[in-house]
Order: sequence, then C-alpha cells, then structure tokens
Amino acid sequence: MLLRVLGTAAGGGLPQWNCACPGCAGARRDPSRRRLHDALAVHGTAPGDWFLANATPDIAEQLESHPGLRPDDGRRRTPVVRVVLTDAELDHTLGLLRLREAARIEVWCTEPVRKALASRLPLTEVLAPYAELVWHDLPLTGEGRPAVIGGLGVSALPLSAKRPRYAADEPAHPAWSTALLVRDPGTGAGALYAPSIAAWSQRLDAELADADFALVDGTFLDEDEPGRNGLSTRTATAMGHLPVRGPEGTARRLHRTGARALFTHLNNTNPLVDPDDPEHERLARLGLGVAEDRMAVSL
Ligand code: MLT
Ligand code: MN
Ligand code: ZN
Repeated sequence: MLLRVLGTAAGGGLPQWNCACPGCAGARRDPSRRRLHDALAVHGTAPGDWFLANATPDIAEQLESHPGLRPDDGRRRTPVVRVVLTDAELDHTLGLLRLREAARIEVWCTEPVRKALASRLPLTEVLAPYAELVWHDLPLTGEGRPAVIGGLGVSALPLSAKRPRYAADEPAHPAWSTALLVRDPGTGAGALYAPSIAAWSQRLDAELADADFALVDGTFLDEDEPGRNGLSTRTATAMGHLPVRGPEGTARRLHRTGARALFTHLNNTNPLVDPDDPEHERLARLGLGVAEDRMAVSL
C-alpha cells in the first residue's frame, strides 16, 4: 500500500487568507512551511489506481502535486473520481464541488455524513447538472465487510458525534466523525487516518496498536491554544480536538499504543507549524512527528 499525503493543515490552511498570526506569517515568509488542507491519496493494488481520502478546497492543486494523480495521455479526461470521507466538515468536502468536471464522482461515507452532504449542502442537487454523484455506504469497522476500493478494504471507525456547524441541528450519531481504516488484503498492511479526534476510546487504542501507520489529529498543541490565540473561548477538547500535549494528550496516548504515527490537520496557531519549535524534539523522543505535505508512505 502506498499513501501520498496531499495536505496536513486544519481548516483555513497555512497560511490562512485572513490571518497574520506567527504561523501564517512564517508560511508567507517561507513557502516551504505552507500546508494545504489535510487529505490523502491512497494507491490501490493495481498500478496507477488511486483514490482520495477527503476532498478539500485545495483539491485541484493537490491532484496537480503528484504525477500519478494527473492526466497523462495527452488529452482531456473526464474520469471517475473516488473519494472516501472521514466526516462532513467543509474543509474535507468542498473539493467535491471542484471535481464537477469529472464524469462520475463516487463517494464513500457514513450515513449521517451522506445525509448532511446530500441534503443540507445540498451536493446531490447542485452537482446533478455537472457530474453523476454516486453515494456508497462506508461500513463501520467490525460491522460487516469493509468496502473494497482499488482492491483495498476500507471501513470507518466511529469516533464522535461532532458534526459540522452547518449541520449542527442534525441528530447525534456516533459516526459523524470517523477514523478511516485501510487494509491491503494481500499484504495485511493497515493504515489509520483520523484528522479529528474529539474523544479517545479503547477501540481507537486497539486499532492504533494494530495499524502499521497512522495519521492523527494534531490540530492544537495544547488545551489553551484556541483561547490564547483569540480563536475561541473554548478549549481544544471542547472544540472537538484533543490536544497533542499534556498528561491526557494524544502524544502520550499514541506513544502507549506503540503506533507509528504522525500528526496532521495542524491549525495555523499550532507552534508545530514552525519547524524550529522545540516541541518537535519532545515528540521525536516519543517516536512521533508531524506529517508533511507531499510525503509518501509505503506500507
Ligand atoms: C474542525 O476541524 O473542528 C472543523 O473543521 C472546524 C470548522 O471549520 O467548523
Ligand atoms: Mn477541520
Ligand atoms: Zn494564522
């Protein structure tokens, strides 16, 4: 299995268009620090067969960033695009609209996510004149057989009932926000992708211990980061993102699972967006680090 990291930033990206915080200013000064919204491309079992995990507002640039994801036969193509979603957040789904030049867009997601996207946004109606939008149920991990996409097994581990703000009045459901589990049936290799972890569960712990590689929520370094930066009066946890640091932080929890894991979905206020921040060394001592845009992971 081959993963291509298409982006590693939380909503707004780095830099965010309306922000001049130290992280955003640093990324304007040094373009190597720029980060696109978090997403992945996953290579299936057949050569050249890719599908996407999350469709961000940066999707066109993200597809251009890798030769394997560009059209290569000298003519315009109207291909079938396949996208698996972790949740219904705008930053993970607005890219579906940018894919309207495709002949067909196939989307795998959980039931509450589909309902939000199909009827609240409403993507099915808006995209209908442009591209055929095909919805597939994404099975929950351990319940029935995983979906088979590009020859790989894909399922969604429910993480929380955190729903996007545009669908805040929709009913609670445990699978609004999920971790994607991708497994190669041939090699047994498994990857976990969880850009939004509102609560830690034993189930998540077990799946992390079992995965060969994980990309996990690194939105905020510590609990007070949103307040300190004037982003919100709420803590990181109250905003639906467990912080990296602290006794109950995700760094220590990940370390205990023994997982090979990198942080993604970094908010522009997170000191970790500065490659010189001393926090990187503390993470390295726990065997952890921060994912980088365009990195490839072979499993
Ligand atoms: C999140 O990751 O918490 C959301 O994307 C925030 C939002 O834009 O509502
Ligand atoms: Mn987000
Ligand atoms: Zn900023």
